[in-house]
Amino acid sequence: MSEKEIFQTPPLFAAQAAVDGDRLRQMTEEAARDPERFWLGQAGRLDWTWRPTVASGSSFADDVSIRWFADGRLNASVNCLDRHLAERGEQIALIWQGQEAAQVERLTYRALHERVCRMANVLRGLGVGRGDRVAIHLPMVAEGVVAMLACARIGALHVVLFGGFSAEGLADRLNDSGAVVVITADEARRGAKRIPLKSVMDEALARGVPSVRHVLVLAVTGLDLPMHDGRDLALGPLLAEASPDCPAAEMAAEDPLFLLYTSGSTGKPKGVVHATGGYMVWASFTHELVFDHRAGDVFWCTADISWITGHTYVVYGPLANGGTVLLFEGLPSYPAPGRWWEVIETHKVTTFYTAPTAIRSLMRDDGGTVERHALDSLRLLGSVGEPISPDAWVWFHEAVGRGRCPVVDTWWQTETGGILIAPVPGAVPQKPGSATLPLPGVELALLTDKGAVIEGVGEGCLCIARSWPGQARTIWGGHDRFRQTYFSFCPGYYFSGDGARRDEDGYYWITGRIDDVINVSGHRIGTAEVEDVVATDHRFVECAAVGIPHDIKGQGLVVFAVARDAAEPGLADAASLAVTRGIGRYAVPERVYLVPDLPKTRSGKIVRRLLRKIACHELDGLGDLSTLADATIVGRLIAVVGSAK
Ligand code: WTA
Repeated sequence: MSEKEIFQTPPLFAAQAAVDGDRLRQMTEEAARDPERFWLGQAGRLDWTWRPTVASGSSFADDVSIRWFADGRLNASVNCLDRHLAERGEQIALIWQGQEAAQVERLTYRALHERVCRMANVLRGLGVGRGDRVAIHLPMVAEGVVAMLACARIGALHVVLFGGFSAEGLADRLNDSGAVVVITADEARRGAKRIPLKSVMDEALARGVPSVRHVLVLAVTGLDLPMHDGRDLALGPLLAEASPDCPAAEMAAEDPLFLLYTSGSTGKPKGVVHATGGYMVWASFTHELVFDHRAGDVFWCTADISWITGHTYVVYGPLANGGTVLLFEGLPSYPAPGRWWEVIETHKVTTFYTAPTAIRSLMRDDGGTVERHALDSLRLLGSVGEPISPDAWVWFHEAVGRGRCPVVDTWWQTETGGILIAPVPGAVPQKPGSATLPLPGVELALLTDKGAVIEGVGEGCLCIARSWPGQARTIWGGHDRFRQTYFSFCPGYYFSGDGARRDEDGYYWITGRIDDVINVSGHRIGTAEVEDVVATDHRFVECAAVGIPHDIKGQGLVVFAVARDAAEPGLADAASLAVTRGIGRYAVPERVYLVPDLPKTRSGKIVRRLLRKIACHELDGLGDLSTLADATIVGRLIAVVGSAK
């Protein structure tokens, strides 16, 4: 499809949308002309115990200091719960749909408030207080949301950990964060499979995590499990006994709300730190603007709560705005294809926000079930996490949205806290495959790899020239790493790690990561992380990981490994196992090639660009090989990859 193809907002949607083109232009102008005033105005969307008198005091220079609404005081859980009680205490805040059709729970704002207070009191009873870290390692059940808000209520930082992390991956993150309490469950249901959350956590703790004092165990499947005396506690009975009243801690706007681990191009995953006031303003602002939120909406974001998308658009954004969110435990095609469509119909979902990897797999495997569902409650669709190809965009728009629903392709990152680039649906015509335009107050820049600013049409490194309230403040325990990672590429700019193109209408087209990060089904994986875990198996001398295009996952991982003794059997499996053990099953390589050596420059740098091309069988135009220390390696690599085809 030509990128000139433009989808205007469907007239019915446009007629009802809160923000039209004129209003958006006005907001954008206001935010550019007087950001201080604009953001102080936006701060008014929250309830503060002390309303801030200053907006930004951020600087990308020198040490990098990011601060928003610094003298404001508030509590995030009060903003998501208490302040709605008078007006909408009986409105449904959270619909939980379990994997089986009959498993449904509807929690009003009042009921959710009570559950959060009970959980907060359980944590307080264990001595958890302001600034402590609590790890949440739960399936997609209401308690996950409850636990996050309970931490926020008492000023503790939540660290939500993905159920797919290996024991080693969990132990690293628990140790880095210094978590004092872990909240986990006996098992997670995943289709017909069960994920043994508690026993993987036991294994993680057995590796030595001295900070963890207690493990609270939620019964999800009711599996009988060994409990460690003095450490493990059954969560259900504690919640039942706990008081349903819990005063909220008054926090400073800059007090951290949570840490969330994500991968970068170097070293171990880093704990990205978000601060209470700015993050909450950003979550609420972007949820309302991008999803045209209004009373009566049922908002379904399919992201796991352990990802930033789950934090901002399952929990904080929609609840701050008094919305109704759906939390679905199951998979798109379990017990049969069409399950997601059933969920949309059953709960009359209006706004459906998912990831390109899911859209691609539905497109391929749905077997036409989408046509057998009316889906007429839907009014808006959204996509996040990876570049979406125009054909997947159009399928989503036509097959799911029936041409009635705008598609908002939203670009953002763990570090940005919330959406930065997206079409405001009543105001910005969409082009399939483009995240379109920055939101008001977001100042993007495209830079060359030498750091020169590109004006007008062009392609380069996607950077941001000024702070926005939802921006991460630092990396937990590593402000210098924060500065190095994001602000050293070009002084004065935040560097996203993504490449992008700007077209003649000023629309942005994200081309994907340009650093050593691979995006597998929306999961960020650092090539360095993969290489480190393979290196822990001493049968390998060295290895290099690269990403290659994958039909469903977006990217797949390919590992080139050099063995000490190439004749030894089972080495490819050993390398895969090292990855699943060290990181988790989601990172399992598509292919492991055992090769005699890696292509390196004379200074010893691995030339990943070449490996990527060879792994993709793109043998024309391998580029200039004269910089290689040994150019003969190229032929040998091609032979290994070719013979494995
Ligand atoms: C990618 C997820 C293209 C991008 C919210 C980014 C996207 C990384 C889009 C962040 C999009 C996210 N189009 N690429 N609409 N949204 N990405 O931290 O490479 O898990 O840097 O945050 O996902 O992934 P993260």
